[in-house]
Amino acid sequence: MLPLKLQLVALTVLGLAHALVPRQAETCSPGLFSCDGKCRDLQTDAQNCGACGWPCAHSLYPGGTCENGKCVCPDGGPGCAYDFGNYCPDFFSDIINCGGCNRACSSDQPTCVNGTCAPCPEDTFACFPDLGVKCANLSSDDEHCGQCFAACDTAAGGKCVGGECVCPANLSVCPGLSYLCIDTQSDRAHCGRCFQSCPYKCEGGKCIDCPHGLTGCDGECTNLANDNGNCGKCRNLCSTGQNCVDGTCVGGPSGCPRDQEVCSDECINVQNDNRHCGACEKQCAAGKNCVNGKCV
Ligand SMILES: *[C@@H]1O[C@H](CO)[C@@H](O)[C@H](O)[C@H]1NC(C)=O
Ligand SMILES: *[C@@H]1O[C@H](CO)[C@@H](O)[C@H](O)[C@H]1NC(C)=O
Ligand SMILES: *[C@@H]1O[C@H](CO)[C@@H](O)[C@H](O)[C@H]1NC(C)=O
Repeated sequence: MLPLKLQLVALTVLGLAHALVPRQAETCSPGLFSCDGKCRDLQTDAQNCGACGWPCAHSLYPGGTCENGKCVCPDGGPGCAYDFGNYCPDFFSDIINCGGCNRACSSDQPTCVNGTCAPCPEDTFACFPDLGVKCANLSSDDEHCGQCFAACDTAAGGKCVGGECVCPANLSVCPGLSYLCIDTQSDRAHCGRCFQSCPYKCEGGKCIDCPHGLTGCDGECTNLANDNGNCGKCRNLCSTGQNCVDGTCVGGPSGCPRDQEVCSDECINVQNDNRHCGACEKQCAAGKNCVNGKCV
């Protein structure tokens, strides 16, 4: 190992040598330009068209190509420029670019039909799923049932009937982010009725207890006295290296004795430590002492 001073000198010399050698990526063949260290043909590169970092397409609007350094859209036109590049909307249907770039449709004419903004057909309602607009029949649209944001649980056979989600026989409608179809006889989160949850299991619409001495946590029976993931109570996770003993996380990377815990990287007995009294960082006021975890 070199002495520190010599090491620094060696580093400086190496650094200089490095700076003097031109970097390979910056020497591009004629006609190519270095963009972010890579040689690019700005005449044809759809990600660097006419200039480094000028893309001809956006992930939401694919299809743009680069010809002679200019973006060309599938319709043969130049598309629309935005802050960081170019993109290719469908002017016939795009509600932001209806009939031309930056011609957004308004809320009373929210659809773009054939390049012209138009109101929703009679008795339908403008809903905005993702980026588009859908004129929904709220009385029968499974994705927009009764209101725009109400979706029925089609995966479980739910349907929109008369503006309300209905479920197959024996399943109950439980509202949430969508109107779920639930078997309340066996669903742990909706046992007997919607939102009545069981810690362990649901059978016949009733919560089932764990065997004696065990506690239900997220559908499993466990012993809170020694479960590192559920120590003392459900979801109380012991830190890496700690163990759950009698329902308390003890020990740790520092190997603290059992009656101590880690506060600011030290093993502390919070029962009698004036800086960490009862818990880490709970300092006793001047003149008080920590006794049994309380400042007195
Ligand atoms: C859209 O426009 C074309 C011609 O520009 C026309 O033939 C067609 O009928 C129009 N469609 C609608 C739905 O208006
Ligand atoms: C909406 O759906 C209902 C039920 O299917 C139907 O009777 C009604 O005609 C629909 N309305 C429109 C505007 O499509
Ligand atoms: C509904 O529950 C009844 C009684 O528990 C049962 O006989 C019937 O097969 C169930 N129907 C469906 C569609 O699951």
